[in-house]
Amino acid sequence: MQVTFSTAALPKTGSIVVPVFEDGKKSKAYADVDAKTDGAIERGVKAADYKPAKGKMLEIVSPTGIGNARVLLVGAGQSKDFGPLDAEALGGAAIAQLLGTREKTAIFALAGFSAKKIGDKELAARIAHGAKMRTYRFDKYRTKEEKSDKPALTKIAIHSSVANAKAAYESYSKIGDGVFMTRDLVSEPANVLYPDTFAKRCEKLSALGVKVKVLGVTEMKKLGMGSLLGVGQGSDKPSKLVAMEWMGGKKGDAPVCFVGKGVTFDTGGISIKPAAGMGDMKWDMGGAGAVTGAMAAIAGRKAKANVVGVIGLVENMPDGKAQRPGDVVKSMSGQTIEVLNTDAEGRLVLADALWWTQETYKPETVIDLATLTGAIMVSLAHEFGGIFTVDDKLAKKLEDAGIATGDKLWRMPLTKTHYEMIKSDIADMQNIGGKGAGSSTAAAFLGRFIKDNVSWAHLDIAGMAWNEKDMPTMPKGGSGYGVRLLDEFVRANYE
Ligand code: BES
Ligand code: MN
Ligand code: ZN
Repeated sequence: MQVTFSTAALPKTGSIVVPVFEDGKKSKAYADVDAKTDGAIERGVKAADYKPAKGKMLEIVSPTGIGNARVLLVGAGQSKDFGPLDAEALGGAAIAQLLGTREKTAIFALAGFSAKKIGDKELAARIAHGAKMRTYRFDKYRTKEEKSDKPALTKIAIHSSVANAKAAYESYSKIGDGVFMTRDLVSEPANVLYPDTFAKRCEKLSALGVKVKVLGVTEMKKLGMGSLLGVGQGSDKPSKLVAMEWMGGKKGDAPVCFVGKGVTFDTGGISIKPAAGMGDMKWDMGGAGAVTGAMAAIAGRKAKANVVGVIGLVENMPDGKAQRPGDVVKSMSGQTIEVLNTDAEGRLVLADALWWTQETYKPETVIDLATLTGAIMVSLAHEFGGIFTVDDKLAKKLEDAGIATGDKLWRMPLTKTHYEMIKSDIADMQNIGGKGAGSSTAAAFLGRFIKDNVSWAHLDIAGMAWNEKDMPTMPKGGSGYGVRLLDEFVRANYE
């Protein structure tokens, strides 16, 4: 998808998108298009009794006086409330509408469309970003789709009266690349994306200046990662650990570390899952996908910060070699774990990934992302990721990044009680709690692998990695949740 910015007159072909506020006066772009069409726009608005509430659209096909295929009015709601995320949603909503037509070019006519909460340049950039985000499509396996059934749109042309909006868009373009990379990873089926092929995709980030290190089973055995390796031992696909280093900050400064759960398929193992919906478990690597996409975004826009992404990659399969419920494994930290349920595998992977990260990089701050528990969806559905931390300052920083980007978070409890709930009769801990608070006991388990003086937050994104229905800036499917969150967290606190 090509995205261009211009201050020139509107092109004579393509569909024109005109945003309209519910309150204030009409923009210059609106007045111009209405004049050129000899009042056809105003007449259309009256005839349809169109009220430009947020996201509400009116399509005026082939109006007189201009050669353009259509004018699409897009409601922007109240101008006083209109902010950056509204601009993105507006761009995305318009694109969704045009994707349903044979249109090739979307022309956003923004001259004179301004709001108090956001500068004109940023507004243009955010509309472009939201529009681009909505064009994502995972169609590589549709070999029989007619060309006429594929969207025709190839160009987003932003026309405004501000020069240099393109510069404001540059970093969003890189963040968008990261989001698309995550969506691709999350969408891939598990016969294509498994630990080895996932690691190979990470290696592609070296083109952006990321140093990528891949550890195999032999190395992990040497390091004593019995917890991570226990999960992968029932699979034919060898487990991997990948580290992606972006050192764009001050030399010698400890990096901030992101750690992701990368279970490329979760059958549950011997504690096997029910058949219904098991296919969803191809995206049980959503945490690792988010970390990888975030590294692409951060490196892509050359962030002036030291950031390392680490992902633990395994496939959880039932097999003659698989671990059994009741097995005791020894983690790299030296702590032993009684594996009472092989389906509580993400925490076993993260236990070693977190420990290795702290040993290797000596970070002050560690954030892990994982599609860790079904229970988090009972609490938060698909509206928020759950954040678990005892560090109020870190919680605030992450929550703020969530509000700024729309990758929203909600604080969840993590207390001594949750740590007590995972005490084992025969080992240092067990991998499941008792009844209730399943997301918090999972977090407490991870907490057992965090060193003193390390500031840590766990984000349970099980409800967020996959989008069940179309949203303004993301079509149904892999959401890319977490990429923008982590990118913004770095931008706001480390650059
Ligand atoms: N990957 C799942 C959690 C999950 C469920 C993510 C649904 C996305 C959608 C995780 O490995 C798991 O199986 N968790 C168990 C833990 C339980 C055995 C303590 C769960 O949530 O049921
Ligand atoms: Mn599981
Ligand atoms: Zn899982």
